[in-house]
Amino acid sequence: MTATTSPLAAPDRTEPTSFAFDAISLDAIAKILAKYPADKKASGTLPLLDLAQRQMGRVTGSAWVPVVAMDEIARVLDIAPVRVYEVATFYLMYNTKPIGRHHLQVCGTTPCWLRGSDSVRDAIKACTGIKHYGETSEDGLFTMSEVECLGGCVNAPILQVDDDYYEDMNAESTTALVEALKRGEKPARGSSIGRQNSAPEGGPLTLNTIVGE
Ligand code: FES
Repeated sequence: MTATTSPLAAPDRTEPTSFAFDAISLDAIAKILAKYPADKKASGTLPLLDLAQRQMGRVTGSAWVPVVAMDEIARVLDIAPVRVYEVATFYLMYNTKPIGRHHLQVCGTTPCWLRGSDSVRDAIKACTGIKHYGETSEDGLFTMSEVECLGGCVNAPILQVDDDYYEDMNAESTTALVEALKRGEKPARGSSIGRQNSAPEGGPLTLNTIVGE
């Protein structure tokens, strides 16, 4: 497995023939498994899948969970491999195929759609060359996925990039964000229009004064 460190480099998206948890992951695994009784180690399936995906992202630039990693999780947890496969293929947050360096997840559920998620999707298409959801750009830097409600509807539309939420997005802010990522930059997450948390645009309208002061 080749280490890919430059944020501008295309990730190594080849299927590995073996997988072993590295020191960072092993340290985290010890802490995770300490939470469960020895005969309930299967409870670690979800967090170990997450660890494997993060390690793949750290080492190859493509955050996904190959079958050999699922097999290693089954070995560590002392469960049948199929029990890991069925969990990995059920939850959308686990990528069971290689992805680009950045995972652009466009929320297309009703509040985001009403607030312009189609323009976010179209801006990503225009600046990455991606034509459809599920595709990875030719340079390997981006994969675009459509996701259901991300729980940030109040600041819709939401674009999740890897672990971060970018909120109140439109075509212009999406284009600026993707171009910054191409340069290896990581813009600040949060509202693109300067909204304070989830307050109304322009600032809070209620509870602005404290009675008695
Ligand atoms: S509908 Fe997009 S965050 Fe809820």
